[in-house]
Amino acid sequence: VILEGLVTTRNADRSINISPMGAVLGDSNLEEFDLRPFRSARTYENLHRTRQGILHVTDDVEMLARAAVDRLDEVPAMQDAEAVDGAILTDACRWYAFQVVTLDDTEERTHLHCRVIDQGLLRHFLGFNRAKHAVLEAAILATRVHLIPAEAIRAEMQRLSVPVEKTAGPQERRAFAFLQQYLQGVLTD
Ligand SMILES: Cc1cc2nc3c(=O)[nH]c(=O)nc-3n(C[C@H](O)[C@H](O)[C@H](O)COP(=O)(O)O)c2cc1C
Repeated sequence: VILEGLVTTRNADRSINISPMGAVLGDSNLEEFDLRPFRSARTYENLHRTRQGILHVTDDVEMLARAAVDRLDEVPAMQDAEAVDGAILTDACRWYAFQVVTLDDTEERTHLHCRVIDQGLLRHFLGFNRAKHAVLEAAILATRVHLIPAEAIRAEMQRLSVPVEKTAGPQERRAFAFLQQYLQGVLTD
């Protein structure tokens, strides 16, 4: 199972970086997981240097969409973690402070095995919602504009707009509209 989470890491200037990342779960019930950041990602750079971070489970797809393309409009609410030198997103549902146990960066997509050393529950997860899943898929498209042909991205966005129209609340609507606008700006052909 790949759990799509938000990872916070400490930048060299002590500010906090927030990025969506997939956590590859084994059967350890989130005591351990793997992260696969590309070598080009700030998350990789920070984890390589600090060997620690915090994985968050959230249903806030607007934060996820904005963080995916580095366009958070404001710094989200955070508090310092105790077990690691990092920050907890206080509007997330759950958080997992982790240490990087092994790091393999021989390939462009790196392989970091992480062990959870502290965790917390902040609020309940909303549950399944088709619009949230559609925003998640759209956010992934927005981070892959250099890999997927523009026409395919437009067609996929059209398809994803259906569950958004049918099932979205204000947060999902804003997030999807944001990604549509972002894609309009970066897809030139
Ligand atoms: C749901 C989701 C999952 C993602 N998973 C990964 C991942 O596993 N590895 C990765 O390198 N990028 C992943 N991305 C893309 C990064 O979030 C994106 O490239 C981001 O800009 C990286 O930020 P950073 O450079 O601050 O680390 C994912 C994006 C989304 C929306």
